[in-house]
Amino acid sequence: MLTNRQLFLLHLGQTSTAPLMLEIERAEGVFMYGPRGKKYLDLISGVSVSNTGHRHPKVVEAVKEQADAYLHLMVYGEMIQSPQVKYAEKLCGLLPATLDNCFFVNSGSEAVEGALKLAKRFTGRSKLISFKNSYHGSTHGALSIQGNELYKNAFRPLLPDTLQLDFNNETSIGAIDRKTACVITEPIQAEAGVIFPVKGFLPKIRQRCTETGALLVFDEVQTGFGRTGFMFAISRFGVVPDILVLAKALGGGMPLGAFISSKKIMFGAACLAFLNVSLIAFSDSPTYLLNSSGPLMLMKFASLSVAIAFASSVFPVPGGPKSRTPLGGLVLMASNASGYFSGHSTASMSSCLTDSSPPISDHLTAGTSIKTSRRADGSIF
Ligand SMILES: Cc1ncc(COP(=O)(O)O)c(C=O)c1O
Repeated sequence: MLTNRQLFLLHLGQTSTAPLMLEIERAEGVFMYGPRGKKYLDLISGVSVSNTGHRHPKVVEAVKEQADAYLHLMVYGEMIQSPQVKYAEKLCGLLPATLDNCFFVNSGSEAVEGALKLAKRFTGRSKLISFKNSYHGSTHGALSIQGNELYKNAFRPLLPDTLQLDFNNETSIGAIDRKTACVITEPIQAEAGVIFPVKGFLPKIRQRCTETGALLVFDEVQTGFGRTGFMFAISRFGVVPDILVLAKALGGGMPLGAFISSKKIMFGAACLAFLNVSLIAFSDSPTYLLNSSGPLMLMKFASLSVAIAFASSVFPVPGGPKSRTPLGGLVLMASNASGYFSGHSTASMSSCLTDSSPPISDHLTAGTSIKTSRRADGSIF
């Protein structure tokens, strides 16, 4: 019989020529255990994913409870699911008031795809600006905007109308113009080597975006959930983006990403009937995720409901956006690469035969809006 090690090499796609090849049988807290109980201190932390450690009891309990209730309901997020709406409420409560509308997906790359498409639809523009040495994921759209040629070259041609500026170079900001749909940046560049923005750089980008009508997207896939000493780097730098991208620790080990914006942008961008199919699929679907943080794992996940139940169980609202987290100034960065098979990424949209979505102007003139009301107790319905 073949060993797991042999099967790993025989049947799994590899992300590097020298995979870590640690065989892990279980993990608890900050430790991982191999065969015969060999103990490893996990300094990789799933690459900024396992902020609460392995198998946090609250997390395990939430996953079990959710698995007992239901796994999957429908491929699009049109059912009202308690873990999902509660997590959205928690997240919005932690963020500035304009970031009040969450769209859940399954990974950081997918959340970036959603943010790019949202910006294009909302503005009716196509130019996408990002920064050199940035990392935003490995799907075609995310690859197109990331600033490291090493990752991109083999996959050209990528999306047209993209531009990478020098991070921390204020004069480069002049390239943001009225043709720009969005400017996407990590508040602190992670994969680039933990590069902090110089004082005033992020506010200047914010100002230029506001002047030109371009949307500002912050990719907090690595900096989110306490890794800069604040729940989100937004609070650290005092700059509010139009769209916030989250993943990794958002799901704490389950496949979860989100892009968060205002209702105005979310619902101005696409009428409700087209929101899911136009932005991104798998907002509530079983999906295959290719995760290569260390050894490559191909996992089939039961449902986003479970992921959200899992995540929302360990991120209590600690007291508003400005509260500091117990993780202090820790910013844990490590290199990784990942991808997944997505139905509505920019690449799969490119291969569709028809585009049935009406243009943005139709949505706007149709005056699509979501009406909510407040009950006497203050809750919204
Ligand atoms: C800043 C940033 N954005 C996006 C991504 C892509 O996230 P995922 O690997 O979940 O697709 C990563 C992954 O490392 C990242 O570091």
